[in-house]
Amino acid sequence: MAILPIREIPDPILKQVSVPVDNFDDQLKTLVADMFETMYDAHGIGLAAVQVGVPIRLLVIDLQPDDPDAEPEVCTAHGGHHHTHQPTLKEPRVFINPEILSVSEEHTVYNEGCLSVPEIYAEVERPASIRARWQDMDGKVHEEDIEGMLAICLQHEMDHLEGVVFIDHLSRLKRQMAIKKLEKLRKAA
Ligand code: NI
Repeated sequence: MAILPIREIPDPILKQVSVPVDNFDDQLKTLVADMFETMYDAHGIGLAAVQVGVPIRLLVIDLQPDDPDAEPEVCTAHGGHHHTHQPTLKEPRVFINPEILSVSEEHTVYNEGCLSVPEIYAEVERPASIRARWQDMDGKVHEEDIEGMLAICLQHEMDHLEGVVFIDHLSRLKRQMAIKKLEKLRKAA
């Protein structure tokens, strides 16, 4: 396993549309393992492959990355059944070739951040729940209704597959302010 460098804006790769995954091979499994290690190291809850420079339709999510006692489990995307984990355990999820089949009328606003836009947070409005279809690392297809934090995170990560980062959802003024703030923070660092 390896910690990979995370691409940050304005790296042009982040604007690329990622291509579908069709080889569910060992190389893919290695990339997934490296992405989890990279994401945990950066204290993120989601990471798309393009963010580590590999523009394929793959993303990983773990909504509880910060527990120091937590041990990563085998990486499995969750299918039609629900795992009951202790709240202290890591819950790694893998989404390959994800699609949104439908979205709720109800929307929700969350103060989002992104490992490719470090230190910047802004409120983004998105559908509160979605029906999604995706493949796991073995190519098996899953379909599930997803709500709450996972729905927000999955939509954020799926944006990356289209070359979109969360500040692209902001007004032009707010986006420019965010980019200026990031430039200032980089200069100060
Ligand atoms: Ni992001």
